Amino acid sequence: MAEEKKLFKVTIDNITIEVEPGTTVLNAARKIGGDVTPPAMCYYSKLQGSGGKCRTCLVEVAAGSAADPRPMPKLVASCRTNVMDGMVVKNITSDKVTDARNGVVEFLLINHPLDCPICDQAGECHLQDLGYEHGKEGTRYEFKRRTFEKEDIGPYIQLHMTRCILCYRCTYVADQLTDKRVHGILDRGDHAEISTYISKAIDNDFSGNMIDVCPVGALTDKTFRFKNRVWFTKPVDAHRNCDKCCGKVTLWQRGDEVLRVTARKDEWGEVQNYDGKPGWICNDCRFHKKKSSDWVIEGLTNINRHSVIGQGKYPGLVIPKETIAEVMHGRDPKLLMDIHDISDVNDPSVDLSLIEGPATSKTFEKNEQ
Ligand code: SF4
Ligand code: FES
Repeated sequence: MAEEKKLFKVTIDNITIEVEPGTTVLNAARKIGGDVTPPAMCYYSKLQGSGGKCRTCLVEVAAGSAADPRPMPKLVASCRTNVMDGMVVKNITSDKVTDARNGVVEFLLINHPLDCPICDQAGECHLQDLGYEHGKEGTRYEFKRRTFEKEDIGPYIQLHMTRCILCYRCTYVADQLTDKRVHGILDRGDHAEISTYISKAIDNDFSGNMIDVCPVGALTDKTFRFKNRVWFTKPVDAHRNCDKCCGKVTLWQRGDEVLRVTARKDEWGEVQNYDGKPGWICNDCRFHKKKSSDWVIEGLTNINRHSVIGQGKYPGLVIPKETIAEVMHGRDPKLLMDIHDISDVNDPSVDLSLIEGPATSKTFEKNEQ
């Protein structure tokens, strides 16, 4: 008879759970779920070696183990600390942790521009969420912020180095998913930056996955750039037969237009697993299949109801009865105008998914001629 595996008991924020030895505190907390789970900006369960860089996942260990119940003297990174039997961990129940996390967020935001209104990652940015939860109203930083030479890393991915938090996730994608890595973190300290060595384009069948793992807006999709705000789009799950990848994606649509294609994400913002393997998608599916007819649509993507992306999209919603005609006794309302008669913005005859690059006012001017 197979020997039963001994499980470790760990208590996180007063909730006790049993996990296999070798599980990290962060993954134990993910098993419990909800607020108990520390945020993770650099750890990514599908990327080996990730974690230990950003310190957003710090927790307090109030008792090290049943055998040695002394508290750990300092807060520890939960993504890099394994559970011990009888360990007691505090996350949201610890003032020290909240205080430290506030400090970490303040540091992450020192050089990060507050350009959410023009950033394509807005609405799905983990740093934006952290900023809301832990950020301060103002900054105490009075020195010059980091700036970088603009760098073109190819036709598909836009790099905004000022937004990068140096989490290293994209370099792990390049190391572990693509056959040769042409980018990395160059220089050190506050000179460190993501770059390609001697301005090379990042060109590889799976390079687009860097966009999906980037927790901020440092790497965004050039084919979607400035075309729409993510919360105006409707995410649907779709698939196609692809000989390079799993072909399971989320299409971000506006009407019938496919504005963006991404891998499907789980509740932690990580790429979902299929048959025990991460569902990374190839560049062909991501950048070149931008028509609904390229895909078999499965249905609406489940979006966390607290996410801004879910706002205004309620499956099964009963639309209230239109009462205008009744109130107006059949007369046409005078004050309701078709916005497209008045403004050319969002002209429905412009297919945003088919135009090259970002939409600008010129896109709409050209259409007039
Ligand atoms: S570009 Fe994005 S994924 Fe890469 S290190 Fe910077 S923040 Fe992380
Ligand atoms: S998620 Fe643990 S240090 Fe970044």
